[in-house]
Amino acid sequence: MIFKIIVLFSLLNIVYSISNHPILIVVSYDAFRYNFFDTKLVPNMERLKKAGTYADYLINVFPTKTFPNHHSIATGLYAEVHGVVGNSYFDQKKHIKQKMGFDMFHYNEDIIPIWRWNEDQGDDRYSGSMMWPGAIYPYQGKNVTYRQEFDPEMDWNKRVDTIISWLTDPNKPANLVMFYIEEPDTHAHAFGPNSEKIRELLQKLDNITAYLEEQLEKHNLADKTNVIQLSDHGLVAVKPPNFINTTQYMTNGTYNKAGSTPCFQIYPKEGYEQTIYDSLKAGSIKNGHFKVYQKKNYPKNWYYKKNPRSPPILIMADVGYGLDDLIINAPWYAKHYKFNLTDDSEFGVHGYDYNVSDMHPFFMARGPKIKKQHKVAPFHTVDLYNLFTEILELPQVPNNGSMGNIVDILSDKPGRYSIGSILIVTVGGVLIALLLISVAAAVALIIIKRQQTITTAAALNKRFPQTFHNNIIEAQHLLEPEDA
Ligand SMILES: *[C@@H]1O[C@H](CO)[C@@H](O)[C@H](O)[C@H]1NC(C)=O
Ligand SMILES: *[C@@H]1O[C@H](CO)[C@@H](O)[C@H](O)[C@H]1NC(C)=O
Ligand SMILES: *[C@@H]1O[C@H](CO)[C@@H](O)[C@H](O)[C@H]1NC(C)=O
Ligand SMILES: *[C@@H]1O[C@H](CO)[C@@H](O)[C@H](O)[C@H]1NC(C)=O
Ligand SMILES: *[C@@H]1O[C@H](CO)[C@@H](O)[C@H](O)[C@H]1NC(C)=O
Ligand SMILES: *[C@@H]1O[C@H](CO)[C@@H](O)[C@H](O)[C@H]1NC(C)=O
Ligand SMILES: *[C@@H]1O[C@H](CO)[C@@H](O)[C@H](O)[C@H]1NC(C)=O
Ligand SMILES: [Zn+2]
Repeated sequence: MIFKIIVLFSLLNIVYSISNHPILIVVSYDAFRYNFFDTKLVPNMERLKKAGTYADYLINVFPTKTFPNHHSIATGLYAEVHGVVGNSYFDQKKHIKQKMGFDMFHYNEDIIPIWRWNEDQGDDRYSGSMMWPGAIYPYQGKNVTYRQEFDPEMDWNKRVDTIISWLTDPNKPANLVMFYIEEPDTHAHAFGPNSEKIRELLQKLDNITAYLEEQLEKHNLADKTNVIQLSDHGLVAVKPPNFINTTQYMTNGTYNKAGSTPCFQIYPKEGYEQTIYDSLKAGSIKNGHFKVYQKKNYPKNWYYKKNPRSPPILIMADVGYGLDDLIINAPWYAKHYKFNLTDDSEFGVHGYDYNVSDMHPFFMARGPKIKKQHKVAPFHTVDLYNLFTEILELPQVPNNGSMGNIVDILSDKPGRYSIGSILIVTVGGVLIALLLISVAAAVALIIIKRQQTITTAAALNKRFPQTFHNNIIEAQHLLEPEDA
């Protein structure tokens, strides 16, 4: 009898804890370069890549920095449209340098990130963000249902366990989860992309990929969940002899500056626009390893100029070169991570033009809505929003992506989701009768539970007391040397 009750209960769980809507998890491993697969250190990722659909790489947006690209993934828009023009920018109205924060992600209140668009359709659609950059903030006055702020101390397995709890929540099962991991980026900045440390982190990322799959299977979610794995940008190694002091080419006090190696956004004070440009231009010719652009001359395909946050002047180091901040940060890294700084020390850098192949992110996907054992041509980061809305069966939103680039990823037969089919697959016909009784019981239970009006946050706190603390440490690693 006890056994029967347990079976009954677990069946209820299976039936009622999973969304009726298509389920999608978007996983981003920060700075996982498209060709890190060549290291042979990620066999689990390699296996999943081959099993589903992949592209050799993604074409990301300018600048190839973390926050602009994560927001392009989430909105399908270029940086000039969503307004996250760098990991920092100078706010010329408020006269302050803006870093990760509410303002950064709210250039235009009409812009709807995918997690919000999913929930906007109602009908019990719920989204979650596991540390996704920018998703901790409310949009149009509403928080996403499940949100974990950035916390590099949070164990990776626990991040996965938390996601599973969102997907299987008895009251509000999530059908979309944005899952961010800050590696290999954080350590790559200090150790460079070719380091032993990064090799170790690639293995750790491979393990967490396997753990996610394992947990999806364990909770009977594997066949119903679409998992997209990708990154925001790649990395190149830069050595100290290639650090350039650009400050020497600008008169102190005549400009404001934001951004980090390899691109600085320069906001000249009134009347100094031409002087600064001219002196930087002269410096660029003299030094030979960085370029200076005026807003009017930004390459068109950067889609970067049509925004008041875009700087009037942009300094871009050549590939393999870095700027002033690295001169200061390199010794900081050496001290913090306890290594000896030499001319051969390597530091990881990204932010160059997206046409530089080392800046390319990876893309792979698997699940009921995804073609099996299939490869597609490289496509654009801004196309992903259309892929998400297709998978989630959501209406289209005007964006900068192209539907034509992603249709080939979708399987012809989209996954059908119904309680009946899950049960037959899961438990077989014998238990169906038992189940019908359970369903009635469950409906009663759910009604009672809803009446308890436990808020999601309170419920989560109960479940994971350690992980929900109040201090906002979003992108803490940025606040060390400012980068991500
Ligand atoms: C979003 O959540 C935060 C922290 O949990 C809370 O302080 C804030 O009031 C919420 N905002 C809205 C609009 O619900
Ligand atoms: C990855 O998992 C394997 C097998 O469980 C384990 O031996 C290895 O230590 C893990 N590697 C890392 C870097 O976590
Ligand atoms: C760059 O050069 C200027 C002027 O020579 C100097 O004041 C500044 O300290 C240098 N910056 C760094 C990071 O070395
Ligand atoms: C640069 O100018 C600021 C004020 O605009 C001043 O506080 C700072 O000391 C100056 N730095 C140098 C190196 O002259
Ligand atoms: C990349 O684009 C820049 C301008 O946007 C151009 O100067 C450069 O030659 C291009 N590089 C490659 C490798 O295509
Ligand atoms: C750094 O250099 C010092 C002096 O040469 C040496 O004693 C020490 O072992 C080195 N540390 C590392 C981490 O290589
Ligand atoms: C990008 O999409 C936005 C929103 O639809 C639109 O306003 C903008 O013109 C588009 N930009 C380009 C370059 O197509
Ligand atoms: Zn990044």
